[in-house]
Amino acid sequence: MLKLVVYVSEYTGNEADAATDLNNICRHASEFNARRNISGVLFYENYHFLQAIEGPQLEIDGLMESIRMDSRHRNIDILVEMDISSRYFSRWNMQPINLETSSLFETKVLKKLRDAYMHNLQISDASFVMLIQDILNTPGAEEILKS
Ligand SMILES: Cc1cc2nc3c(=O)[nH]c(=O)nc-3n(C[C@H](O)[C@H](O)[C@H](O)COP(=O)(O)O)c2cc1C
Repeated sequence: MLKLVVYVSEYTGNEADAATDLNNICRHASEFNARRNISGVLFYENYHFLQAIEGPQLEIDGLMESIRMDSRHRNIDILVEMDISSRYFSRWNMQPINLETSSLFETKVLKKLRDAYMHNLQISDASFVMLIQDILNTPGAEEILKS
């Protein structure tokens, strides 16, 4: 059984260290996740993370326990938790996406995603995940999103 979790959380570090922390987290995560068949993406913007992780249910539950205890963030708010039959983010074991330094990503879609979050998920889990995918499919983003 495959499971997908999407959450947002607050970065507890200094803004100046955010890009480094994001890259360090993803470097470690890519290695760890590859061994456990976990895929996903990690966005950062303005003291907030948004992460999507997917993989075997037990592996995802175990990883979420470690993630919850990580002092680099707090106030984890689960937005999506669902069983899936196929992966949405299979290209990446953990792709960092720093929205503060990459202006490439489609702002209209990002606005929709932020609105969906701010207004307490007026859209379904599946639509929420589709929005994240739309952001990743922004033309020109290929260069940043290397497999
Ligand atoms: C926002 C955020 C996302 C993270 N995502 C992952 C991840 O996808 N995979 C991973 O192995 N560690 C991830 N980590 C790191 C884990 O929280 C933890 O530090 C790491 O798994 C080592 O855990 P351990 O000390 O229990 O071995 C993330 C940390 C943060 C703050």
